[in-house]
Amino acid sequence: MRIGVAKEIKPQEYRVALTPAGARELVLAGHEVLVEAGAGVGSAFLDEAYERAGAAIASVDDVWAGAELLLKVKEPIASEYERLREGLTLFTYLHIAADEPLTRALVASGITAIAYETVETDQRALPLLAPMSEIAGRLATQAGADHLEKPKGGRGILLGGVAGVAPARVLVIGGGMVGYNAAVIALGMGAQVTVLERSVDRMRYLEQILSGRVQLLMSSTLQIEESVKDADLVIGAVLIPGALAPKLITRQMLGTMKDGSVFVDVAIDQGGCAETSKPTTHDDPVYTVDGVIHYCVANMPGAVPITSTRALTNVTLPYIEQLAELGTVGAITANRELARGVNVIGGKVTYEAVAEAHGMEYTPLDDALSALV
Ligand SMILES: NC(=O)c1ccc[n+]([C@@H]2O[C@H](COP(=O)([O-])OP(=O)(O)OC[C@H]3O[C@@H](n4cnc5c(N)ncnc54)[C@H](O)[C@@H]3O)[C@@H](O)[C@H]2O)c1
Repeated sequence: MRIGVAKEIKPQEYRVALTPAGARELVLAGHEVLVEAGAGVGSAFLDEAYERAGAAIASVDDVWAGAELLLKVKEPIASEYERLREGLTLFTYLHIAADEPLTRALVASGITAIAYETVETDQRALPLLAPMSEIAGRLATQAGADHLEKPKGGRGILLGGVAGVAPARVLVIGGGMVGYNAAVIALGMGAQVTVLERSVDRMRYLEQILSGRVQLLMSSTLQIEESVKDADLVIGAVLIPGALAPKLITRQMLGTMKDGSVFVDVAIDQGGCAETSKPTTHDDPVYTVDGVIHYCVANMPGAVPITSTRALTNVTLPYIEQLAELGTVGAITANRELARGVNVIGGKVTYEAVAEAHGMEYTPLDDALSALV
C-alpha cells in the first residue's frame, strides 16, 4: 500500500503521525511510504531520517494525491478539504462531533475517515487517547510546580519541600489515566499527595500500585470542599465518558484556597471541572481568579511534541500495519476496534454520536460496507 504522511498545518501543532522507526517497519513489510517535506521537523525528525528508513520525501500535493492511506495527527482544516477524495483512507484525530463543516466535507468527498479517538476495545478502553492522557497528567504536575514559584505569581512553595520543611500539598480530583500520572510525578517530586475518586475499585487498584504512598479518599462535595481549602496545587482530572465534565469546584470553594495556589484543569477539553475554568493556550496558559492561578490549556501534549509523537505512534502503528496489510475494508472487517474508529465511509456517517450531533443520517457500518460492493 502507498502510505502518505502529511505535515500538520494547524497553528502550534508540532507532532507528526509517523516516526522514522514506524516508516522503517512499513517499508520492511513491503509498503511504500511518502513523507511530506519537513513533516517531522517539529518533533526533531529531519527528512534525511525518513529517507534513511526507506521512505520518500514528497511535496504536499504528491503526498495527498498519491496516498491510499493518509496519516495525520489533527483533523484537516478548511484549506485541506479540497484534498479529501474517494479512494483515500484518512487515519487521524478527528473530533468531528464538534465540527459540522468537516463532517459534511468528509461525507461529500467519499473518503474513508477513521478517527483515532473512537478506536475502542471490547473493554471500552480508548487506546489511541490513553497516551495523551498519560502525558497531560505528567505535565499537569510540572506546570503546577512551575506556577507555584513566586516569579510566576505563585505562593512560592517548592513541591518537595526540603529536610525540616513541609512539602506542598497536591490534590488530584479523578484517579484515572490523567490523575494517576499526575500523582506519580507529584510523588516523585516529593509532594504530599491526595487523590479523590468515585470508583472504589479504581481506588483499590491505585492503592496497590502506588503502595499506599498517596491518600485515597472518596470524592464527594463535602470532601472536595475540605481538601481544596488545604491544597497548594489542585489538579482536575475527572471524566464522565461522553459528557461534559461535572463542575465539582464552585467559586465559593475556590475562595477558600490560599492566595497564589494553583489549579490545573486538565478536564478543560470537556468543559472543565470548576465553575471558573475557561480554555487557555500555550501562548497564554494562565489567568487568576480570587487569587488562584488557573492553568487550563486544552491541548497540553502539544507542548512536548518529541514525547507526544513517539507515544502516539507507538499505539497507532499496529493499526496502521493492519490497514496497510489487509486494505481498509479488510482491516475494519477483521478488527472490531478499528471498525469502531470509522466515522465516515462511502459518503455515509457510520458513527452514531456524530450523526446525532449534526442531525445527519446514521448508517451502521455493515450497511455502509455492503453499499460499497
Ligand atoms: N487538557 C488536555 O490536554 C488533555 C489531554 C488528555 C486528556 N484530557 C482530559 O482529561 C480528563 C481525564 O482523562 P482520563 O484519560 O484520565 O480519563 P479516565 O476515564 O481515565 O479517568 C477519569 C476518572 O475520573 C473519575 N471520576 C469521575 N467523576 C468523578 C468525581 N465526581 N470525582 C472524582 N473522580 C471522578 C472516574 O472514576 C475516572 O477514574 C478528560 O476530560 C480528558 O479528555 C485533557
